[in-house]
Amino acid sequence: MPHLTWSAELALDHPQMDATHQEFVDLLAATEQALAGSPEAGLQAYDALVEHTVAHFGQEDRWMAATGFAPENCHGTQHAQVLQIMREVSRLAHEQQDFGPLGRVLPELAAWFRVHAQTMDASLATHLDQLGFDPATGECRRRVAADSITGCGGASCSPAAPEPTAA
Ligand SMILES: [Fe+2]
Ligand SMILES: [Fe+2]
Repeated sequence: MPHLTWSAELALDHPQMDATHQEFVDLLAATEQALAGSPEAGLQAYDALVEHTVAHFGQEDRWMAATGFAPENCHGTQHAQVLQIMREVSRLAHEQQDFGPLGRVLPELAAWFRVHAQTMDASLATHLDQLGFDPATGECRRRVAADSITGCGGASCSPAAPEPTAA
């Protein structure tokens, strides 16, 4: 049984974000399953998850940049921190054949994602909706002040979600 499965509580009523998040959940489960077979298969699946996460976070970061978030906003900062950990886990496995961190980071990622989706991503989805943001064109129906948001996009900045650790 994977640590994370898709459920209604993860859905944000934002079709593009929800589709990306379902892919994240599926790739994480596929990595857990592959790792149960062999470390090498687990690492191959994990690298696909990392690649997907680069695009996933990049997409949200672009949406935030287009809708008034400052470059150093806390949501984008958390993306960068999580991706750094994910890449370090991959590096340790590839360069030192140390697969321990890979086994430990998967349940951590599952727990982190559940909180992140329900706080920072949920606030971003609401923010995009309120602005009438169209992901296809990058246009908003309402005007936004550039670089004005440093929190998560909610009425008050959500507390930071616990981050996965590599060790
Ligand atoms: Fe997300
Ligand atoms: Fe996010």
